[in-house]
Amino acid sequence: MFPHPCRPLSPSLPQATVRVFPEAPRAAPSLPEAANGSGLPYYVPAGNECALFELAWRKRLPLLLKGPTGCGKTRFVAHMASRLGLPLHTVSCHDDLTAADLTGRYLLKGGDTVWTDGPLTRAVREGGICYLDEVVEARKDVTVVLHPLTDDRRILPLDRTGEELQAPDSFMLVVSYNPGYQTLLKSLKPSTRQRFVAIEFDFLPMDREAAVVAAESGLPEDRVRPLLLLARRLRALKGQDLEEGVSTRLLVYCASLIAAGVAPEEAVAAALIEPLTDDADVKTGLTEIARATLG
Ligand SMILES: Nc1ncnc2c1ncn2[C@@H]1O[C@H](COP(=O)(O)OP(=O)(O)O)[C@@H](O)[C@H]1O
Ligand SMILES: [Mg+2]
Repeated sequence: MFPHPCRPLSPSLPQATVRVFPEAPRAAPSLPEAANGSGLPYYVPAGNECALFELAWRKRLPLLLKGPTGCGKTRFVAHMASRLGLPLHTVSCHDDLTAADLTGRYLLKGGDTVWTDGPLTRAVREGGICYLDEVVEARKDVTVVLHPLTDDRRILPLDRTGEELQAPDSFMLVVSYNPGYQTLLKSLKPSTRQRFVAIEFDFLPMDREAAVVAAESGLPEDRVRPLLLLARRLRALKGQDLEEGVSTRLLVYCASLIAAGVAPEEAVAAALIEPLTDDADVKTGLTEIARATLG
């Protein structure tokens, strides 16, 4: 297995410019933990993204993560939040999400109307991380709420309560999207995207992806490797017969089924082929590639 989920960061940071924040309470990790017993959500880095994330946080810069679905963006944010000891508020964006879903609203409680913070407001008040997954799905009024938080003012105006919250130094906004789905209508406006430091994600190199799939599924690495060969062949079809390639997430599902005793060809059909396409001819083609690869 890949030996170290993530190197220690701080020694390589330029200490002169680093500000020290009071330690926030650490949320109990609910995700699989690193094999080294660090207590952090398990994450195998592709490069220097952990150091970049920490630096962006210390410099109070908002962060944009781009990359295909199921390649580890959400796990990365959970890992870093836990590592930095910050509360994490995650929102999956969709086109019905309103600005009030993020900021908060008055709710009826026992005859009274009580203001209830949304996840963005909570993250600002607590000085934690607000992570907006698939931010391009959100409506325009949502992105507008983010603007004053993503420039040097770092404020969140709450029109309904008349408050103007100043984000504490430890607050960080992280957004992600999948450029593969991008259409002209569904891309981030330059005025929004130019407010973020961006990191591009892709699937891990073979050895590391094998370590991740083995660790997450419990299937030994030598049995994971043929699945990764197949995944690489299927990923090469992206843009021709397939809209999206096989994700690391699907590989974990497939390996978990095999580890639980499902026959490999059934697991491959259920976890790697059916989720990718509804087209019968394409399915037949993919099944043939699977047979040729796995034998
Ligand atoms: N670098 C990685 N380290 C550890 N697990 C990973 C990594 N990349 C992917 N995974 C696995 O793949 C799954 C999907 O990753 P996720 O972070 O949800 O993808 P995304 O947010 O990019 O769609 C995770 O639950 C985890 O099992
Ligand atoms: Mg995600």
